Amino acid sequence: MPDKAKKEFDRDSISNTLIVAIGLSLVCSVIVSSAAIVLKPIQEKNEEEFRQQIILDVAGLMQPDADINLLFESIDSRMVDLETGEYTDAADPNTFDALVAAGDPAMGIAIPKELDIALIGRRAKYAPVYLVMDGAEIDQVILPVYGKGLWSTMLGYLSLAPDGNTIRGLRFYAHAETPGLGDQIDKEPWRAQWAGKLVYDGGDEPQIRVIKGTVPANAPDAMYMVDGLAGATLTANGVTGLVQYWTGPNGFGPYLKNFREDITDE
Ligand SMILES: Cc1cc2nc3c(=O)[nH]c(=O)nc-3n(C[C@H](O)[C@H](O)[C@H](O)COP(=O)(O)O)c2cc1C
Repeated sequence: MPDKAKKEFDRDSISNTLIVAIGLSLVCSVIVSSAAIVLKPIQEKNEEEFRQQIILDVAGLMQPDADINLLFESIDSRMVDLETGEYTDAADPNTFDALVAAGDPAMGIAIPKELDIALIGRRAKYAPVYLVMDGAEIDQVILPVYGKGLWSTMLGYLSLAPDGNTIRGLRFYAHAETPGLGDQIDKEPWRAQWAGKLVYDGGDEPQIRVIKGTVPANAPDAMYMVDGLAGATLTANGVTGLVQYWTGPNGFGPYLKNFREDITDE
């Protein structure tokens, strides 16, 4: 190349290096942003299907290779005002994000420390419930529950029989408790123990709890107790806290009271 032309086009000049670097960054950011936009609906659909799958699982309706959307049609999703315990149209149960709503000043409330047995700080004013129908009859009601374990927020669903008291199942779908210790919360056989246990003993305060050790077979209140998790008592205490919070007077208590009375009146 003649000296003059070389002078005019120096590949290694600072300006050329900057142009290439900025150009490359722009191209890459366009590719990444486009991928995020294109994949977002697929990601949202997958998240929604996963949530539906867990609800179907705790309801005992999940079958391998089943069409999740079709199975979910037997479930009536409703929104509940937690303070009054009444159904409300204030939010859409299919898109509601309880954690986001909890942090929103208009949609969430701070939980006074002495009542915060789930250790969550804030909660949404509203929460979805899932009514599993058997024809025109309610077969079970499924409640979203969450609270702090040792390391993480544990999110799950609690299923109750139409009496609003007998537990059908408790299933966690997200947590970061230690494998082999706290993660027993979403493993059999510990999970299976919850079916048939009772939340209330006639009053409005939940009695169900995870104890330390094994529930004595002849204990008069064995129906309100679940075996502890060996080496993971702190996670187990978190499960007691969150189940009692969400079934208690500051969680779904008012709703479950209405629910039990409605069923009794029918
Ligand atoms: C690395 C490590 C991970 C642990 N993970 C958990 C856990 O996920 N859940 C839990 O309750 N305890 C966990 N523990 C144990 C707790 O510190 C505590 O000892 C235990 O909860 C007490 O339960 P225990 O009385 O049944 O032994 C962990 C301990 C260590 C060292």
